[in-house]
Amino acid sequence: MRIKDFLHSATALNNISVKGWVRTKRDSKKFSFLEINDGSSLKGIQVVVDESVPGYDQLPATSTGASVNITGKLVESPGQGQQWEVHATEFQLLGTCPDDYPLQKKGHSPEFLRSIAHLRPRTNLFGAAFRLRSRISYAVHRFFQEQDFVHVHTPIITASDCEGAGELFRVTTLHGDIDKQSAEKDFFAKKTFLTVSGQLEAETFACGLGNVYTFGPTFRAENSNTTRHAAEFWMIEPEMAFTDLQGDIDMAEKFVQAMVRAALDECGEDLAFFNQFVDKGLLQRLEAVANAPFERMSYEDAVNALKNSGKTFDHPVEFGVNLQSEHERYLTEELLKCPVTVFNYPKEIKPFYMRLNDDNRTVTAMDLLVPGIGELIGGSQREERLDVLIGNMKKHDLNLADYSWYSDLRKYGTVEHAGFGLGFERLLMFLSGIQNIRDVIPFARTPGHAEF
Ligand code: 4AD
Ligand code: MG
Repeated sequence: MRIKDFLHSATALNNISVKGWVRTKRDSKKFSFLEINDGSSLKGIQVVVDESVPGYDQLPATSTGASVNITGKLVESPGQGQQWEVHATEFQLLGTCPDDYPLQKKGHSPEFLRSIAHLRPRTNLFGAAFRLRSRISYAVHRFFQEQDFVHVHTPIITASDCEGAGELFRVTTLHGDIDKQSAEKDFFAKKTFLTVSGQLEAETFACGLGNVYTFGPTFRAENSNTTRHAAEFWMIEPEMAFTDLQGDIDMAEKFVQAMVRAALDECGEDLAFFNQFVDKGLLQRLEAVANAPFERMSYEDAVNALKNSGKTFDHPVEFGVNLQSEHERYLTEELLKCPVTVFNYPKEIKPFYMRLNDDNRTVTAMDLLVPGIGELIGGSQREERLDVLIGNMKKHDLNLADYSWYSDLRKYGTVEHAGFGLGFERLLMFLSGIQNIRDVIPFARTPGHAEF
């Protein structure tokens, strides 16, 4: 049993063992009070050690951060705010913790804690953030598995550039000036990269298995030092055969609402902590998102709304420009005050695989925007007409031979299909109110930073 189980125990218990790290210690003449945390919950448990207990002589050497093993009894606590405490019958100091322990005092900034990423999991904030991450990761799989989606492990090393944005990390075993050498001499006998998205490979499985999803790490060498971009992040990408843009948006909305519901129902203690110390409006916002329908708006309507907003943006808006985060946030936070999906973007600003609309100037792209974050999801219906796809590939200067496996899906029994990608860290920011992507991923990789 772990501390969380003791805190929720229905009865007093004899002969228990508590292992964890000391958060605080208070000494009185004949007793010591320790608060022990083992990471199983935000709350720790109070342990009373009196001077008669074997091992009591180790208490002077037991300080904040030390690891301990306590044998004892779980008894009703006379103290406030806790039902149970432990009376030690034996005390064992496992690992001392010298004075230079960086978490000696409470109240460190997230920036400082980032510089000691290896010790962050011992703090309340990061304990809560990473318990949430784990629970929601599980909820993602549950959501898709319960609807019979097949989980596909798409490759991490790939030869294709899904998004065509040129933000690829090269994977090579060549030495010296690699650009001057023939890629044929490289390990895979061609140029390879870390994947920016599992979508293209997921499409091959959807066009055979029906509904599939990937959930894996993705890599982007974009040099944007923002609070919402990481060079390594995790993405969830469902791909659905016999599905159009509307079905895609339906699924995206349903997925986001289910994740909010899972966080509210299964991570209550940690969410209450975030609501108190990170973002006071969090619970109210999440309840609203879980219960109310989302909005949908075409790109053209969004551009008009932005133009008529009476606001001055750093980046002016016109039909044809990419929406910037300031625009996205105006739409979801100020104009609509709820999540909104913007769809049918101009074809010029979107990748080659998106389905061209009959107007011949927009594609079936969709971005789901949420308050506090902006873009949480990007997706589209895929171009299933072989001739149109080939035309798009040529326009995007793709080497048709390299993508023949992709166009084959349209040659042999093509079907309408659609999918999207949700950035897992952005979802966690949305669910926790944590403002910086570096604080919801265990070891952040951002330009200039790859510690450990
Ligand atoms: O909009 P994106 O680039 O879409 C795709 O990659 C599609 N192939 C997905 C698909 O249709 N299967 O990325 C999807 C999401 C974004 O909405 C955002 O949440 C997240 O991935 N994302 C990032 N998250 C953190 N750091 C970055 N650098 C990110 N780039 C994208
Ligand atoms: Mg996008």
